Amino acid sequence: MRVLVTGSSGRFGRSVVVALVDAGHEVIGIDTAAGTPAQASFLPADLTDLGEAFGVMTRFRPDAVVHLAAVATPFSRTDNLTFRVNTQLAFNVCEAAAMTGVSKVVVASSPTVIGYGAPGGWAPSYLPIDEDHPTEPWNAYSVSKLVAEQVMASFARASTTHFAAMRPCFVVAPEEWEGAPTQSGHTIRERLDRPDIAGVSLFNYVDARDAADLVLTLVDRMHEVPSGEVFFAGAADALAREPLADLLPGVIPSTAPYAAGLTGTSPAFSAAKAGRLLGWQAKRSWRTEMGDI
Ligand SMILES: NC(=O)c1ccc[n+]([C@@H]2O[C@H](COP(=O)([O-])OP(=O)(O)OC[C@H]3O[C@@H](n4cnc5c(N)ncnc54)[C@H](O)[C@@H]3O)[C@@H](O)[C@H]2O)c1
Repeated sequence: MRVLVTGSSGRFGRSVVVALVDAGHEVIGIDTAAGTPAQASFLPADLTDLGEAFGVMTRFRPDAVVHLAAVATPFSRTDNLTFRVNTQLAFNVCEAAAMTGVSKVVVASSPTVIGYGAPGGWAPSYLPIDEDHPTEPWNAYSVSKLVAEQVMASFARASTTHFAAMRPCFVVAPEEWEGAPTQSGHTIRERLDRPDIAGVSLFNYVDARDAADLVLTLVDRMHEVPSGEVFFAGAADALAREPLADLLPGVIPSTAPYAAGLTGTSPAFSAAKAGRLLGWQAKRSWRTEMGDI
């Protein structure tokens, strides 16, 4: 297949490009920034411009689109820009893909749509959190991602293009296991040493190559599930040295009524849906990549 990847120069996009090329797909990377792996063709384009979005679809005529481009870190830019860019990107990419007859589109969302970390307080409805859990976004980034999911779902209802969204947990790129700073600026070791850092997002994480493998699975098998489905992509364990049953209530007291079931290495986010419907599960964990430190 010819697969067009937006945000192909990014932390996650680079692993997606490599996974798709390794699986035998022809990959075209689109990004405003350089850094797309050399195995892909690359064209710089700002996809907040609908003309540019249509331009890349009509020029390359991809079979599938993987939409990752975004302001990807909460509070890294002004709220106005984050909301405007992320929602505009989602709409433009979905519209241009649907109108030009692209067969499959995968859109990146985020677990932040759930609403943890809200200054006014947040409590889970249950744990582990799955795709049926209520969403309560509270900042420009998380609400932009929920809008992106809704945009994706609206095009799924309106067009013959097949759509899916994924919510990758905190993405850890391969070099970050070796000590490079993660998206939050902390190293993985710091996140393990300081539960107050990783605990805010309920110790969620996923290896970028595992999340890329879910993209690959969706590109290959999306037609086996209804259009418009949403999938969490998370590691099979938590980014923590102790069971979340012990750790989580200390960081987020409102989780206490539900955390007791998170024994052993159980994570707070469930990726069971991707396993059940698509046969995907994360193969890597911090323990396989760093040892039991
Ligand atoms: N990294 C994570 O932990 C994580 C977690 C959940 C969801 N996500 C989502 O996954 C996707 C990829 O995240 P990432 O960590 O690789 O982010 P990143 O910031 O490393 O990469 C995003 C890329 O999008 C590009 N981009 C931004 N605006 C653009 C525009 N107008 N036109 C074209 N390209 C543009 C950027 O130049 C960048 O290379 C994002 O949608 C993000 O919201 C990431």
